[in-house]
Amino acid sequence: MRIIRSVPAMTAWSLGLRREGIGIGFVPTMGALHEGHRSLIRKARLACDALVVSLFVNPSQFGPGEDYARYPRMFEDDATLCRREGVDVLFAPSAAAMYPAGFETGVVIGAVGKRWEGAVRPGHFDGVATVVTKLFSIVRPDRAFFGQKDFQQSVIVQRLAEDLNLGVKILVCPTVREADGLAMSSRNQYLTRAQRQVAPVLHEGLQAGRTAILRGIRFGAQVARAMQRVVEQEPGVTVDYLACCDPQTLEPLPCIAKQAVLLGAIRLGRVRLIDNLLVKVKADRREKDGP
Ligand code: PAF
Repeated sequence: MRIIRSVPAMTAWSLGLRREGIGIGFVPTMGALHEGHRSLIRKARLACDALVVSLFVNPSQFGPGEDYARYPRMFEDDATLCRREGVDVLFAPSAAAMYPAGFETGVVIGAVGKRWEGAVRPGHFDGVATVVTKLFSIVRPDRAFFGQKDFQQSVIVQRLAEDLNLGVKILVCPTVREADGLAMSSRNQYLTRAQRQVAPVLHEGLQAGRTAILRGIRFGAQVARAMQRVVEQEPGVTVDYLACCDPQTLEPLPCIAKQAVLLGAIRLGRVRLIDNLLVKVKADRREKDGP
């Protein structure tokens, strides 16, 4: 596995492969790799001739007072995981290489980036979109792999790739969970032992929402209440949002027709957790078969 830190060297490597007609798969990450990342890397490895993983803790997607400085950085462990998974290039640029002096251009995301995570973390998705656009320009991938765990991010990146004709196919892969349902995340390591015990309540709440839908509830507000009842019964948990939304626009759904995404974010002390479930509604028998 090659470790590339320089932006021009990364692009030169990719252009060389592209000239030979070799397809490049790409998994962008901020490091502190876990089983969720491993599953993205494995999917990309199987699907693509060449594979690049980037490791860059992107300052522009952290707000003031957020965890940029203490975000876990474990380069050697991450490199070992990538090497074992057959990654061809680990691209690990410095912040100065990505944002040199004089840098002043950015991508601004529309309405879909202003709600939910965007409302709690203003500017976050503009930072994500800017760095993802830069990474795509540098790495020149054919396909890029993102986790469904960050559902809003995956919607935004798909929109971005389409709106700006970035020529990259975006693949969204299922969330990987701990045995008790907690979605894998690099930030789970901030949890104290007591918080870790409580953390699966977010997934339990989302499941309660899904159960409500599968039992025939179609009003988004009722589904949201079903989720809140479960999550709010846990002391020490602050709900940022629990919502039943349209999976494309992420607007709250007054009434569910075919599918919904249940989005949730909670705080346990200073630790924020996000998760989601995509729920498809089976066609009503009477609707399908006629009266
Ligand atoms: O999901 C992440 O780890 C980051 O938001 C990403 C896509 C690597 C951009 O910094």
